[in-house]
Amino acid sequence: MTTINSIEELKGINFELIPEDDKWSFGESKEHPMHRIHAYPAKFPGFIAEKAIDFALDNGVVLETIADTFCGCGTVALAAKQRNFNFWGVDINPVATLIANSKLHDYDIFKVEEYYKEIKSNLLGSTESLSQSSNSRIQYWFNKNTIGELSRLLESINTTAPEGKYRDLFLTVYSSILKTTSKWLSKSIKPQVDPNKIIIKVTDAFERNYNKTLKALKIASESSSNITIETNNFLNTNCVAPKIDLLVTSPPYVTSYEYADLHQLSTLWLGFTEDYKELRQDTIGSLYKSGSRGDVREGRLNQTVKQMILNLNDTNISKTRINSIITYYLDMQNVVKKIARSINNNGMVVFVIGDTEYKGIKITNAKHLVECLLLNNIADIKLVKRKISNKSLTPYRDKNGRFTKDKNARKIYSEEFVVIGRKFDA
Ligand SMILES: C[S@@+](CC[C@H](N)C(=O)[O-])C[C@H]1O[C@@H](n2cnc3c(N)ncnc32)[C@H](O)[C@@H]1O
Repeated sequence: MTTINSIEELKGINFELIPEDDKWSFGESKEHPMHRIHAYPAKFPGFIAEKAIDFALDNGVVLETIADTFCGCGTVALAAKQRNFNFWGVDINPVATLIANSKLHDYDIFKVEEYYKEIKSNLLGSTESLSQSSNSRIQYWFNKNTIGELSRLLESINTTAPEGKYRDLFLTVYSSILKTTSKWLSKSIKPQVDPNKIIIKVTDAFERNYNKTLKALKIASESSSNITIETNNFLNTNCVAPKIDLLVTSPPYVTSYEYADLHQLSTLWLGFTEDYKELRQDTIGSLYKSGSRGDVREGRLNQTVKQMILNLNDTNISKTRINSIITYYLDMQNVVKKIARSINNNGMVVFVIGDTEYKGIKITNAKHLVECLLLNNIADIKLVKRKISNKSLTPYRDKNGRFTKDKNARKIYSEEFVVIGRKFDA
């Protein structure tokens, strides 16, 4: 582990030369089946949360409350729950918090099975609801027959399961089948139609994913921990974190995923918004999130990224794009400031963050994060490089965003950093 205690030390560290650490690259046990109930892009493996908790305990953190300020589909939350710690998390994406909450509630399995039977039988008598299917984006992604099947299933869920955790559980299963039943190009991180896609029947897909979910619920353990998950922009003033002993999080990267776009099928069908693009607005790292232009903003950037922005200014990358990258770094500076205020003295933060590349220029997310931490009285920084297990076979993506072995394709990074820090008295 590389240790950094000051900005001076940080300047001398070459992140490229840090060796990979196998301990943080692989887990000792299989992923909890609960994490397979719904796919979520950029989810990190559950063992990272486990290792972070162990590391905090081994290093004397008095642990009561764990938090994740970008909680996604609830990976850290589930680890906290399993080990009986309180958890507070937030994510701006309503699809993420729907999935996360479904993984965390305790259910009466008998009731779940009864509701499922009723949903199936009500489906037989249900007539097609046209409210959702009139949306042009839905018509773009789904066949007419599938739209009818999905409308009837949604109606049946909403009329059978009462509002609350049981309905949300079935809506999560519903959401999990939307990509396979649409024309969405499988496993692509760029939303695009696959003209040759073999579309699975809605009822078959729903049954399959319901069974997977039920199996996961049957082995889930109950716990007395206090779990709160909010749907909000972490940077909003009305988003107030409690006092935290351990933060484990993986923040968004700039130029990486457009979360709002990737979840558009669920957002549209579940009626979270009429226009999924609205959700891009406050999503950190979105290339559509740009602020006002100008040197004033650039002047507020930390040292680590100032030179990189100057390099970008010398390329033909559009000013709007550069502006979104500046916005990302300013957002992350505010994120760390806000996190630092919530961490208890002697508490710990564990970030999982990777560098990216935009038009050949390296985007140094990890180094920037370390600088932000040091500037906010979080020190004793430990830096670990880990292999991204599911990207080990090939680090390239083709023009459709799918993994490829073609070395001329866009290179994505197959490693990332675990950045650990400790809060000390100001
Ligand atoms: C790398 S993912 C986290 C994945 C998570 N660790 C998991 O295992 O599912 C980053 C998350 O940040 C969320 N996000 C982006 N901007 C946000 C904001 N302003 N406030 C809260 N969450 C935000 C995205 O919706 C996304 O779920």
